[in-house]
Amino acid sequence: MGINEYDPRGQFISFHNRQQRWAVLVCHRRAGKTVACVADLVLSALVTSKQDARFAYVCPQYNQAKDVAWTYIKRLTSDIPNVQYNESELRADLPNGARIRLYGADNPDRLRGVYLDGVVLDEFADMRSSVWGEVVRPMLADRKGWAVFIGTPKGHNAFYDCWQDAQMDIDWFRLMLKASESGLIDASELKDAAKGMTDDQYAQEFECSFEAAIAGAYYANDLKEEHVREVAYDPRQSVYTAWDIGYSDDTAIWFWQMSGNEVHVIDFYSANGHGVEHYVNMLNEKGYNYAKIGNKPFLWLPHDARAKTFASGGKSTQEQFMSYGYSSRIVPELSLQDGINAMRMMLPKTYFDRQKCFDGVECLKLYRREYDDDKKVFRDKPLHDWTSHAADAARYMAIAYRVALPEAQRPEPKYAFRGTENGMKTLTLDEMWALTPKRSTRI
Ligand SMILES: Nc1ncnc2c1ncn2[C@@H]1O[C@H](COP(=O)(O)OP(=O)(O)O)[C@@H](O)[C@H]1O
Ligand SMILES: [Mg+2]
Repeated sequence: MGINEYDPRGQFISFHNRQQRWAVLVCHRRAGKTVACVADLVLSALVTSKQDARFAYVCPQYNQAKDVAWTYIKRLTSDIPNVQYNESELRADLPNGARIRLYGADNPDRLRGVYLDGVVLDEFADMRSSVWGEVVRPMLADRKGWAVFIGTPKGHNAFYDCWQDAQMDIDWFRLMLKASESGLIDASELKDAAKGMTDDQYAQEFECSFEAAIAGAYYANDLKEEHVREVAYDPRQSVYTAWDIGYSDDTAIWFWQMSGNEVHVIDFYSANGHGVEHYVNMLNEKGYNYAKIGNKPFLWLPHDARAKTFASGGKSTQEQFMSYGYSSRIVPELSLQDGINAMRMMLPKTYFDRQKCFDGVECLKLYRREYDDDKKVFRDKPLHDWTSHAADAARYMAIAYRVALPEAQRPEPKYAFRGTENGMKTLTLDEMWALTPKRSTRI
């Protein structure tokens, strides 16, 4: 099916004819949204009067882009004379100078630096939403490019916000297609699909419900929406930080303060591809009243911060922070399950600042178990994706925050901090709590 034979599904005609610069399509699975959006890009690329027009199709993961969208792009451009494909860059070059290229939101740096005349963000609910604000949106500014957000819902995250905000805005085109109304999938097929899914999964994937619980989510029941609100920084109170350090992956950092019995999470930071100096500058710029040991501000680091790294002349991350005047402690190593339990116990008294913690909270909402598509069951381990790093750092926060409590407020039985000398030993929360302090932890 080349672009000449492309026969749009009736449900998408209003989309192809839209006048608005922005569009959001919330459509059930197999509605044909990916095909419609790829066709829309190809049509735009063909009719554009701009010189060297650039179009992009962004999927959550580069590999997905290759599997699905690239096949559609090649098919829908196959009847354009002299079209050229660059297989290693997943790029189609049209004879009028326009180019369509595929990207993965898992590697947004590849995108940086180019302008765009039009972009589709496919399965936006599964992406780190900052890819839009920080990377894609600025690229559209130069040439007033357009954007389309498509996907199925994943709870109240950035895709939901996009759908809601678009409602009030005349610059936005909106379309929702539910399977019960679109007529695109026949009843017996839908019934069959429903068999392998929970009610929530079906409501989300086929009925476009933003309210359905995210299947396999770890914190869905514990992270309440009213706990994400404005949380003021109190300069009189110490600020603690818990870190998950990525060497090739993301580094994620939570910033919190204690307020009576409540945990006030005032900030979140994540980045990748930087050395220790970058993070030291970031801490200085934020300028919080960091908790101190002696006169040195201190950080809660993950156990792997003790490992020596080649890159830094055989110094560990912990040692590098030390050379910048920071002291640190290693978060006691708990099993994943115990860490998750610690998080669940902490969440009812934890409040997150809506703005500064936005990216991190999104990760927490989406952090979920891996799904086995063949067996139709969830595996007993988390899906490793862009949400994992913030979720790991949050587990460390949930373990570490107790140590910072005045002794009288610590949960019973008393939780003892055993410091780095025992850090490698895996202790369950119960085991840890059962320990008596070996030394006082005046932090
Ligand atoms: N206009 C169309 N003409 C023919 N087949 C289509 C059309 N739109 C979608 N399809 C087919 O429907 C199926 C689902 O399309 P896809 O765009 O991948 O769905 P979604 O992204 O909504 O899950 C694919 O097999 C695709 O080839
Ligand atoms: Mg699709």
